[in-house]
Amino acid sequence: MLQVDAVSKSFAGLRALESVSLRVAQGQVVGLIGPNGSGKSTLFDIISGFQRADAGTVTFRGLSIQGRSPNAIATLGLIRTFQLSEGGQRMTAIENLLASARNQIEANLPAAVLRLPRLLAVERENLSRAKEALALLGLSQVANEYLANLSGGQRKLVDLGRILMAKPQMCLLDEPTAGVNPSLINVIVEALKVMRRDEGITLLIVEHNMQVVGDICEHVYVLDAGVVISEGTPETIQADERVLSSYLGRGRAVNE
Ligand SMILES: Nc1ncnc2c1ncn2[C@@H]1O[C@H](COP(=O)(O)OP(=O)(O)OP(=O)(O)O)[C@@H](O)[C@H]1O
Ligand SMILES: [Mg+2]
Repeated sequence: MLQVDAVSKSFAGLRALESVSLRVAQGQVVGLIGPNGSGKSTLFDIISGFQRADAGTVTFRGLSIQGRSPNAIATLGLIRTFQLSEGGQRMTAIENLLASARNQIEANLPAAVLRLPRLLAVERENLSRAKEALALLGLSQVANEYLANLSGGQRKLVDLGRILMAKPQMCLLDEPTAGVNPSLINVIVEALKVMRRDEGITLLIVEHNMQVVGDICEHVYVLDAGVVISEGTPETIQADERVLSSYLGRGRAVNE
């Protein structure tokens, strides 16, 4: 479904990515891990069209997507979340979800009047899906709160709700559990499993929590200083000397 080949990117002389290649098959949940500053978010920026690679190719469902805008890429069915949640702060949680529904009918008045029954049916369906998603994410109590009043962790959950509403073919998630209260991590893991199992969404996930990675990812790529130093199952990479020393070299355990 996603194929990244020999992607390189430098920022003013600093090599953020060096000939990075990876593959994600349809229906897979693949992890991307690596120490801070190893290039994970930069790779997401390039795949999703927010940055241009200096070299290399990105192919999504057989189409070359490098150089396309984030919007064009999203329209093809590939969306991403950011390390810091970025929903509409002046909208409530449920409004954020409703705004992400793909089947929204344009608010063009004459057309809307002509198609009123259909419009109402779609709105009802979206509302019930949004309520279901909020319940799954434990957000029912704050459905009508403005995003600005929610905690960082709750906003991360709203991000997942927006994905459940948008139903992309594939989603890139940048640290979905970062800043989330540990008691909510299993809610996130459950939501990711629903995305995969019930919605058939293919996932590529940057995640520092190795327990989460082990629980949901079948394959993991490890980046260090912009280079893929290892790949394999969560068990294999956690036993890989190169991976251990890459994390230890930075005074951090692989499971921190
Ligand atoms: N827009 C930019 N301009 C200049 N340098 C950048 C830019 N974006 C990233 N970098 C640099 O590129 C390197 C990779 O950064 P990136 O954010 O991709 O790492 P990361 O693996 O996501 O790290 P973290 O785990 O901290 O989120 C870092 O050295 C960073 O400082
Ligand atoms: Mg990052």
